[in-house]
Amino acid sequence: MSATCVVGLQWGDEAKGKIVDFLSDEHDYVVRYNGGNNAGHTVVWGERRFALSLLPTGILRSHMRAVIANGVVVYPPKLLEELASLEKAGIQVKDRLSISAQAHVIFPYHIAEEVECGGKAAIGTTGRGIGPCYSDKVNRANGIRVGELLHPEHLKARLTDIIPRKNKIIKALSADPDKAPVFEVEKLWADYCQMGEQLRPMITNTTMLLHEALQNRKKILFEAAQGSLLDIDHGTFPYVTSSHSLPSGIWSGSGVPARQLTRIIGVAKAYTTRVGSGPFPTELNDGPDGIGERIRKVGREYGTVTGRPRRVGWFDALAVRYSAAIAGCDEITIMLLDVLSGLEEIKVCVGYEYEGKKINYFLNDGVELAKCKPIYETLQGWKEDISKARKLEDLPVQARRYVQFLSDLIGLPVSVISVGPDREQTILNKIG
Ligand code: GDP
Ligand code: IMO
Ligand code: MG
Repeated sequence: MSATCVVGLQWGDEAKGKIVDFLSDEHDYVVRYNGGNNAGHTVVWGERRFALSLLPTGILRSHMRAVIANGVVVYPPKLLEELASLEKAGIQVKDRLSISAQAHVIFPYHIAEEVECGGKAAIGTTGRGIGPCYSDKVNRANGIRVGELLHPEHLKARLTDIIPRKNKIIKALSADPDKAPVFEVEKLWADYCQMGEQLRPMITNTTMLLHEALQNRKKILFEAAQGSLLDIDHGTFPYVTSSHSLPSGIWSGSGVPARQLTRIIGVAKAYTTRVGSGPFPTELNDGPDGIGERIRKVGREYGTVTGRPRRVGWFDALAVRYSAAIAGCDEITIMLLDVLSGLEEIKVCVGYEYEGKKINYFLNDGVELAKCKPIYETLQGWKEDISKARKLEDLPVQARRYVQFLSDLIGLPVSVISVGPDREQTILNKIG
């Protein structure tokens, strides 16, 4: 029994990709169990930089078997594009990847539904068709699974039923009905049959595969997409994604029972970022010469998927303590600590003022959280460049104090401190 989960503790982009890559040596399988190509996970090895949306990042290591499990929503053109780009980079992946026949498929009409019918604007989504595809899964009548791409006549019948309905919905809800896209059954059918054929050797029952792996004492690494605060149930609804990004999604999203998990690692940035709409109490809106813009520039805080500037703010200890608790974390990692170098002072949110009262717990309700004002403690910053630090003692005392302070507030040990995007720029000593 040995399964690990790497989960983000903020609003995504916590540098999960780096930690997954780091842990790959100790594992045999890497599994994506939620989300789709709304994710963007980065791995840096020296001069080489990879950004993957749909493939688990662990696939970059040649000993790893990779699984896209049933809880993921799959956009076949993106998947094929990522496979081709890795093969081009000299990384052979096709014989190491398995895709669940039960995963749901994103079609272009899902993207149109999101973009044309107001969802993208209302929530600030990535425009990848994620919400409409999961809606169709839950609603059943319009949902199509990956396995169905392998049965052309069956797929044609499904699309003949679904597409006219989708065209009506998109036209009716579009802001400009005359310009609304119209989808053709024949064209989509031909395209998706062809992509299904390309994926055929990889499509399988991944639940059975993972259970066999566990029986053979293989070590499995679950790579969560998004962050705990974007979880459909426990995040800041409605400004969330449409899947279970917490480890609770593993059981339903892969068929591996929770009791198999022996280690849950929560990944947090040394500050906070958020892409898209929604409340963000510690957000720094201090203008072009302010600290927010400085962190954005130094941390290169622009979306991996959409290129949107990420919203930036101080570390919110209430948010991370909440996430770590519901994720069931054993430990946390503090990422991008180097980005804070050179700041005179660093603030940490240790409480909120909510409706005139001081509270010391997170409010996951989007409306309530929007009314919270952060209460900060201020710590001394450090001037030194820490990107070459490789052990705890290499860090200035103020940086060590900062990490210790976060560990104390969250009540969990910090097992990894990251001081740069590269695999080497990592400190392993435990704090807390
Ligand atoms: P993910 O979605 O959680 O995998 O994170 P992203 O890849 O979207 O965003 C994290 C970004 O931070 C990527 O560009 C990483 O290369 C980069 N990164 C990771 N760790 C560090 C670090 O310790 N310092 C700096 N400066 N950048 C880092
Ligand atoms: P990774 O895995 C950051 C955000 C979107 C939007 C909301 C809903 O790289 O951490 P969606 O397209 O999922 O319906 O959008 O969720 N979002 C992310 N933010 N990192 C991600 O993934 C995200 N995936 C979705 O910006 O606010
Ligand atoms: Mg990302």
